Amino acid sequence: MVPELPRVIGHRGAAGLAPENTLAGLRVAAAAGCTWVEVDVRLSADGVPVLHHDPALARGRTHAEHIAHLTAAELARTDVGARFSPAFAGCTVPPLWAALAEAADLGLGVNLELKADDGDPDGLVAATAAVLAGLESAPPLLISSFEQPAVAAARRRLPDIPRAVLVRRIPANWRERLESLGCCALNVGNRDAGAAGVAAVRAAGFAVTVYTVNDPRRARRLWDWGVTSVFTDRPDRVRG
Ligand code: G3P
Ligand code: MG
Repeated sequence: MVPELPRVIGHRGAAGLAPENTLAGLRVAAAAGCTWVEVDVRLSADGVPVLHHDPALARGRTHAEHIAHLTAAELARTDVGARFSPAFAGCTVPPLWAALAEAADLGLGVNLELKADDGDPDGLVAATAAVLAGLESAPPLLISSFEQPAVAAARRRLPDIPRAVLVRRIPANWRERLESLGCCALNVGNRDAGAAGVAAVRAAGFAVTVYTVNDPRRARRLWDWGVTSVFTDRPDRVRG
């Protein structure tokens, strides 16, 4: 099942316009015209899925500031907005449930990129499934991960949610990867996305999405090649 993906997906919310992976970022993405966003999901110390890209709160800081060593309550008190701009001071690391509730209110579909680099892909997927089970209404979803075991776990625990294989470049065995994980889409890095590779994957019936595209001319070229969607930090500039 291929979800109806738009030509533009807000990356980490709208990371060029608002602090990434925050509720404010979702609101800014929606205000800029996005109908879908991508967010990064990882587990807090107490096993709560939260939105954050890096394993640590700030790049290169101490061990104690790793997301996996902080509770969801501590993260909900941690300002990640001021480092983007004083106008966003007070934005914190949200739990996934709050982000999905906000997205549903805003009418946004969400690509959940599962960051299982801290070790426990099945635990991350199990906790995500528990969050989804507790939601009154879930937005349209797509699950992806660089970590193949996380995609496999999503297939077992959340079989009805569409899945994507996430790679930096299109691998030689792309068809086998997509089919063996029951995926509908290949999410590819912008630097290595080429016309022939895109055409081959599209011709086989899969969606192709490309990250991260902040140049509108590049986005147009990718769409001309048949790319389904681009992830952008700047949905004010890259418009479908
Ligand atoms: O999911 C697409 C893209 O977000 C993958 O790269 O490092 O920005 O999470 P990254
Ligand atoms: Mg991501």
